[in-house]
Parts: sequence; C-alpha cells; structure tokens
Amino acid sequence: MDKTLRRPLIAGNWKMNKLASEALGYWSQLRQALRLTGGTDSAICAPFPLIPAMQAARGDCAVLVGAQDVSCHQAGAYTGEVSAAMLADLGVAYCIIGHSERRGYHGETNELISEKLLALLEAGITPIVCVGESLAQRDEGQALSFVESQVRSCLGAVPQEARAGLVVAYEPIWAIGTGRTATEAQAQDMCAHIRAVLGDMYGPETAGRIRILYGGSMNGKNARALLAQPDIDGGLIGGASLKSAEFADIIGAADEG
Ligand code: PGA
Repeated sequence: MDKTLRRPLIAGNWKMNKLASEALGYWSQLRQALRLTGGTDSAICAPFPLIPAMQAARGDCAVLVGAQDVSCHQAGAYTGEVSAAMLADLGVAYCIIGHSERRGYHGETNELISEKLLALLEAGITPIVCVGESLAQRDEGQALSFVESQVRSCLGAVPQEARAGLVVAYEPIWAIGTGRTATEAQAQDMCAHIRAVLGDMYGPETAGRIRILYGGSMNGKNARALLAQPDIDGGLIGGASLKSAEFADIIGAADEG
C-alpha cells in the first residue's frame, strides 16, 4: 500500500535520563532547530516525573509528549504503578510498551504487553508496541519467526476499530544503544515482514495504515536512508533524542521524505 497514507512518526525515548529542570532549555533549543512543514508527527517519551514539566515547556510546539510504560491495571492497590488514565490526564499522546529493556530487566511478557496495550487504547493514548530479536536469534536464523510471534501475541486482542491507529516499533536488541544500526535492507525486510503478519491478522487494508517504526542507534546521519525504505514509517530514537539539535534534524528528515 501507498506509503503516503501513513504520516511519519518520530518518537524520542529519553529512557532514565534528564531532570525536570532541564526541560525548558531542551524545548527552547528544539523549537529553534525545528523545521517542520506539518506533515510529520513527533513526540518525546519522557520518564513519568518529567511529564508535567515537559508539557509546560512544550507550549504550542508540534512535538508532543509521551510516556515509556504504563500499568495494565486501571486503578487500585498497585504500589509504584502509573495508570493510563493518569497519563491521559497529563495530556500524554503516545506510550511505549514492551521495550526490550522492560522485557529483559522486568520480565515483561507478551501477555502483559497485550493487557497494557488495551489499557492505553481505553484511555485514548496511542501505543508504540516494541518488538525485536536478540543477536543470538538473528544468528540462528530465527529473527523473522520470533518477531512474528511477538506481533501475534502482543497485538492479537486489539478491537477492529483501534487497529489502524496502532504503532509498532521494530527494535533489534543488538542495535539498541550499541551504535550498530541495522542495515537499511535488514530493517526494511523485518518491517515488511511485520506488515505482512499484520495483514494476515487484520487484513491488508488495515495493515497498510499501521505505522511501523525502526529503532536502534538511529541518528542524524543514518535517519534519511532508513526513513526512505518503503515499510519504515518513522523512528524510535534513544540516545540521539537527548540532543535537541540532532532530534530536530531527524524530525526534519522524516518531514522531507
Ligand atoms: P538507541 O535506543 O537509539 O539509543 O539505540 C533506541 C531505543 O531503545 O528505543
């Protein structure tokens, strides 16, 4: 399906970096560096305590504020958890779920991620569902089947009316924070495979509307070539989103495309 049906999305993932007191300086530099025609969606997914300061500093900037995780529960005795309704109340537009660091360090399963996804949809927040294989899985030739099983398990329960609005991020674990980006061909092949799996699950028309991002050492230098691939609709940017000028450059690259 025609790529122009999908608005590019560039999402920053600050992970556990920066302080609320740094938000104002970051956003004023980001605004100065941004060159936007209005054809691209963008957001910064910040740690929970930074979200109010991020919203205040953002003002009317086109770049929105997102979160990095959410509870699968609606409310109640879940110490330390943050609900989707709390995020929606703070004006959060996007929320990353199933990042490999949550899967790896916190034991998150596909089943839990599927529940988180439904909680976000109920609150009107767009989920960015992360999938991706380890280096060992790639070396053993299991990357396609592993990512396919993640997609089927995490996205299998989504009601029909919410499917086209989903965002999936393909992040090969071996490329995250390593400086080793997937080649354009590797990233394109997997994103095309994810779209084919979504086509099998939801039908090709819906799959053609779902945005699929690449993430893993994407930066100001390699973004253009990755974003030019037919099935890559944007990026999930970790390290390079911490620098406002570089993040603005990546958003600009998506906007040009
Ligand atoms: P990176 O992180 O861009 O620093 O590799 C991407 C991510 O983990 O979302």
